[in-house]
Amino acid sequence: MELFDAIYRRHSYRGAFRPGPVPEADLLKIAEAGVRAPSGCNKQTTHICVVNDPEKLRAVAELLPRPVVQTAQAILVIVTDSRPAYGDMSFKPQDYGAAVENMLLAVTALGYATVWLDGVLRHDGIAGKIADIIGLKDRKHFTVSVILPVGVPVEAGAQNTRLPLEERVTFNTMD
Ligand SMILES: Cc1cc2nc3c(=O)[nH]c(=O)nc-3n(C[C@H](O)[C@H](O)[C@H](O)COP(=O)(O)O)c2cc1C
Repeated sequence: MELFDAIYRRHSYRGAFRPGPVPEADLLKIAEAGVRAPSGCNKQTTHICVVNDPEKLRAVAELLPRPVVQTAQAILVIVTDSRPAYGDMSFKPQDYGAAVENMLLAVTALGYATVWLDGVLRHDGIAGKIADIIGLKDRKHFTVSVILPVGVPVEAGAQNTRLPLEERVTFNTMD
């Protein structure tokens, strides 16, 4: 798929996925798209734990009982490192934002769907419980920040609406 097609077609998918595994080669390709994203000072603070073990998928689904998680054939768990990249500056949110967007586009380009689940992990200690499932040991520096459930969507979907381009993009001035 051409890059701009993927940009226009990418959307947050919250429905069910078709049964059947997502090939590991595709999961690796998606994760590599994340790894290829830029990061502040090239500190590469974003780690991707690809979960496709059925027991682990079930454990995550118990925490987030919604179709997109319950039927996910794989879940990419995005683990972020909060240690400073330069002086006292951490670029963690920027780093993982860039990595996640690359992965969203890769998911779309390969004909799968996903949704950036981030806010929902911040309730009821869910991020910590997912960290337990993947055996994350260093909780001082590393946090589960996002999960991306991946699969072949049952339903078609479309990107949410955007404000008119001229409200968000200007040339030379913000007047
Ligand atoms: C930082 C961030 C956090 C998000 N957290 C959630 C979330 O917790 N649950 C959810 O269903 N969608 C979440 N989303 C998806 C947004 O709701 C979605 O991108 C937005 O509504 C625009 O829709 P679109 O992705 O289809 O264009 C998140 C997106 C971003 C960028």
